[in-house]
Amino acid sequence: MYQSKIAGLGSYVPENVVTNDDLAKLMDTNDEWIQERTGIKERRHIKKGDGNTTATMGVKAAKIAIERAGISKDDIDLIVFATLSPDYYFPGGGVQVQDMLDINTCPALDVRNQCSGFIYALSVADQYIKTGMYQNVLVIGSENHSGGLDFTTRGRGVSVIFGDGAGAAVVTRSDHNGQGILSTHLHSEGKHALELSLKGPSTLHWVPEIIAENPQGDDIPYYPYMNGQFVFKNAVVRFSEVIMEGLQANGLDVKDIDMLIPHQANLRISQFIQQKFKLSDDQVYNNIQKYGNTTAASIPIALTEAWENGKIKEGDTVVLAAFGSGFTWASAIMKW
Ligand SMILES: CC(C)(COP(=O)(O)OP(=O)(O)OC[C@H]1O[C@@H](n2cnc3c(N)ncnc32)[C@H](O)[C@@H]1OP(=O)(O)O)[C@@H](O)C(=O)NCCC(=O)NCCS
Repeated sequence: MYQSKIAGLGSYVPENVVTNDDLAKLMDTNDEWIQERTGIKERRHIKKGDGNTTATMGVKAAKIAIERAGISKDDIDLIVFATLSPDYYFPGGGVQVQDMLDINTCPALDVRNQCSGFIYALSVADQYIKTGMYQNVLVIGSENHSGGLDFTTRGRGVSVIFGDGAGAAVVTRSDHNGQGILSTHLHSEGKHALELSLKGPSTLHWVPEIIAENPQGDDIPYYPYMNGQFVFKNAVVRFSEVIMEGLQANGLDVKDIDMLIPHQANLRISQFIQQKFKLSDDQVYNNIQKYGNTTAASIPIALTEAWENGKIKEGDTVVLAAFGSGFTWASAIMKW
């Protein structure tokens, strides 16, 4: 059985910075409320005409990751693309990346696991490499949230939280025994599917029906719905569980964590986990203050930044953990 490791990381966020004060011009909100509840100061939004889409941002991040991995785009055996905000209903973003990167006819797989999307995608890459089927897998998480949020006061409970961006990792067969992805742990609980969801347009909520059912437009299923407090309560429990599950599977303890990269859902969730596990500020990486919650992109953006800032060194135990819509939650334990 082979082992996989992350050989290259890259990220990209649009240039357009949107501060909390900018949002307060569009809806009844304010900087103090947003910072106090979420820790977010600003986020990036695609600007019309800047050329960014979910797929093109993913490609920008991927190019950096491929270069840093020291391989050619033609060495990629599989693309795994995670997003909840694809450019098209179908086909998925993976095939767009295959075309934009001009990689032969390599397979492209789309993962739809929202905030857990990157770890689910990483797990897919890990399994293909472990079995020996593929050697280099390009894993991308990319989101264009700003294209589909309600920026009126009605949508303020959701729209202030999310931001746009992309992150990518080249996952490669590891030469050194013990270095790389040690294990991944995935879960779901579909009974809570609609607690954090976008109902349509979909086959159940098609456009003419949406309009017919909501002539006043006051209960619009084509904006995301989030039961914020319920999500929060479940998140803190599941984050803790899945981190412990991953550590225990490898005979590790919380004190062995050199770097925890939690999905950037809400700074208060990360702080809760940090306090619960008694981790120091150096052991947890957060950048939600700058980018908001970028869903499938948040872990690869944070991981890339942590690595770029020298916060992850060879031999470190790095833990990734996520929770989100589905509900789904996941962790990955790596020896860097
Ligand atoms: C969304 C979240 C920040 C809301 O915080 P909260 O403390 O639960 O706030 P509530 O939703 O109870 O709203 C409290 C009040 O603030 C108001 N409010 C909501 N959004 C607001 C905003 N952007 N600005 C100002 N006021 C706002 C509400 O209308 C409510 O007013 P009321 O008391 O007069 O009814 C919080 O629940 C959360 O972070 N949940 C988890 C979200 C998450 O992680 N999602 C991604 C999962 S991956």
